[in-house]
Amino acid sequence: MEVLIISSSPRKGGNSDSLSEQFKLGAENAKHKVTKVFLGDKQINYCKGCNSCFTSHKCIQKDDMEEILQQMVEADIIVLATPIYFYAMCGQLKVFIDRCCARYTEMSNKRFYYLFTAAENGNSTVDKAIIELQGFLDCLDSPQVSGIVSGLGAWKKGEISGNKALKEAYDMGKNI
Ligand SMILES: Cc1cc2nc3c(=O)[nH]c(=O)nc-3n(C[C@H](O)[C@H](O)[C@H](O)COP(=O)(O)O)c2cc1C
Repeated sequence: MEVLIISSSPRKGGNSDSLSEQFKLGAENAKHKVTKVFLGDKQINYCKGCNSCFTSHKCIQKDDMEEILQQMVEADIIVLATPIYFYAMCGQLKVFIDRCCARYTEMSNKRFYYLFTAAENGNSTVDKAIIELQGFLDCLDSPQVSGIVSGLGAWKKGEISGNKALKEAYDMGKNI
């Protein structure tokens, strides 16, 4: 399987990025082909809403999104990792999703995994982010959410250490 991990937190090596690494390790150990993209390393401008991609299926902006869109179209599995910001996905991930406009119609039959981290411990902390991401999936052809890991109670960078979510992410990657 081709697995594409989108790590969207601005904190490299932070909590959700650590879950991404564990998922990657598990999937690699199960011999899947894994690509991890750390969005903070990329130049991704926000969608200008110009609508030109509606007919051309190409974005007028020349930045790193073109390459990542190709990787998304080719992937069997897409992993979206985000910290919870104000009970929502982080802005970087939303900007990224908006930029899928040019090629989302080619993203058919994909399986998705979500990796969340949040400072709070309540189980409902990630509920609104799940609903937001479902808005994206609702626009795709036959998507499937195959698994969700929530690393809760992790606020500062590194506080995910010792959290059971790390093993859950590894196992999820291993068992895709
Ligand atoms: C702008 C901002 C908003 C946040 N909002 C929430 C929130 O609504 N609920 C929560 O539990 N944690 C919130 N947090 C804490 C982060 O979700 C938490 O620190 C998370 O572990 C960060 O993951 P990262 O290291 O991958 O960036 C917020 C943090 C920031 C910077």
